[in-house]
Amino acid sequence: MDTNANWWRDAVIYQVYPRSFADSDGDGMGDVRGMISRLDYLRELGVDALWISPFYASPLHDGGYDVADYRSVDPRLGTLDDMTELIDQAHARNLRVFMDIVPNHTSSEHAWFQEVLRSDPGSAAWDRYMIRAGKGANHELPPNNWKSVFHGSGWSPLTDSKGNATAFWYLHLFDSTQPDLNWENEEVRAEFRDILRFWFDRGVDGFRIDVAHGMAKESGLPDYDYADGEPELLGDQPHAPFWDQDAVHDIYREWRKVADEYDPPRVFCGETWVPNPERLARYQRPDELHTSFNFDYLQAGWDAAKMRKSIDDTIANHSKIGAPPTWVLSNHDVVRHATRLAPGFDNDTRLTCEVDAERGLRRARAATLFTLTLPGSMYIYQGEELGLREVSELDASVRQDPAWHRSGGTDGTRDGCRVPIPWSGEVASFGFNSGSSSWLPQPADWAEVSVAAETGVEGSTLELYRDALHLRRELAALGKGPLEWLDHMSDVLAFRRTAPDGSSVVSIINLNNATVHLPATWGNEVLISSSDDVALLNTGGEDVLAVGPETALWLRDAG
Ligand code: NOJ
Ligand code: MG
Repeated sequence: MDTNANWWRDAVIYQVYPRSFADSDGDGMGDVRGMISRLDYLRELGVDALWISPFYASPLHDGGYDVADYRSVDPRLGTLDDMTELIDQAHARNLRVFMDIVPNHTSSEHAWFQEVLRSDPGSAAWDRYMIRAGKGANHELPPNNWKSVFHGSGWSPLTDSKGNATAFWYLHLFDSTQPDLNWENEEVRAEFRDILRFWFDRGVDGFRIDVAHGMAKESGLPDYDYADGEPELLGDQPHAPFWDQDAVHDIYREWRKVADEYDPPRVFCGETWVPNPERLARYQRPDELHTSFNFDYLQAGWDAAKMRKSIDDTIANHSKIGAPPTWVLSNHDVVRHATRLAPGFDNDTRLTCEVDAERGLRRARAATLFTLTLPGSMYIYQGEELGLREVSELDASVRQDPAWHRSGGTDGTRDGCRVPIPWSGEVASFGFNSGSSSWLPQPADWAEVSVAAETGVEGSTLELYRDALHLRRELAALGKGPLEWLDHMSDVLAFRRTAPDGSSVVSIINLNNATVHLPATWGNEVLISSSDDVALLNTGGEDVLAVGPETALWLRDAG
């Protein structure tokens, strides 16, 4: 394990969604030993770290983001010993390990919530959650108008252990099986500091924080004016009394002290859905989180002006506080970017995704290659290195996203990016396990996009990712170099990054669906490109760099 305590500042972090990664025991659900068996693959891919989505004991009403015991491994996924082995084996390969902590809410099966059901109003057990008396003569109405981001009311009536109605309601900003914790309660705060230490002591290098913009609620729990913004899946409504409250920063100041007790210090990345890059940067103040996801960039789509604005705003706001930005194009909550960026995609078609898949993949490859050259760290989501598309054709009967059920099947598309990974072979489960079962069905044509099918194949998306990740490590300019925009034409973005040693790399993306001619003076050696349509030409006596449609490349001056 290298000892660079600043590894996270420009790392590439691979997100593993454990149930869908690799299944060692053939029960159709990925597991910890499956992950261990694929660590060599990750090392060879060239990533620096993995972030593992929750694997804790859970009733899986929200894919594990409903945690029943934060100090355990779900028995279907493995044991604590397996997990310790995974951490050690990852470290032996120089891979860091981020876990996922879910502090906004527990599962309703968590011992604390079960205690609520057995306890009386006003008890210490009740104070750990957001429980309030209902409105109306018989308390038959919820305490305020907050909605669940998974649709429906954000409140459910609290029944006692015998199932009898009470006058009280509990808040759940997500599913009704995910009661929100009361972060004004000192016991809650102490418990989570202790959970952090439990895993840090086992060698975990850091945590991704679920709903990091949640936790603190405006005092008095005032109604929200939903005219300001309808609930989005992950909720980044401006000025909502339940998101991005100033008090949440106090919690991170406490957590940072815990992380700094360790050598090397442990690291945080917040899942912060906030309205703009300025609000985002507040989470990265020097005594708070090291990094946060930058969803502003993810939401910019295939749009040169929005991408450029997002990049500029993000870098400017982060540089004021000396924190590195992060970049992400896909994760387990959004439509895979090979589909999301495709012509024909819009949010209303998330459930059908009838798009131009070929151009979608072409754009996704270009977007990834370009994004990998931005200053800071980058997250990639399992399967994007294979160019996997969104599986939008899943039958209603197999869908598990709670938002799907709570919206009556009109929303809740997150299963489509969680289909188990194809590793090899001609028939499902494509090497996900040694049998044929997988908790979500894989498309028949995934034989063509398995790891085995793409390995060693020139031009495959897997080889593009491998080459790009290895080059990114070698090129000093892509580590610490500042970013300087080059003059560009419409729908082309181009910048140069220069390392302290003077070496530089130019990164270009052509978002047009046509070839563009760019100055050949930007560099004469094409290091890598997302399509073959790149050439240095002499037309009419003038040297030009011809960049084909929807193509990105890295260029340097070889003298
Ligand atoms: C964000 C997670 O990424 C998502 O999968 C989950 O459903 C919500 N937080 C609630 O925990
Ligand atoms: Mg299994």
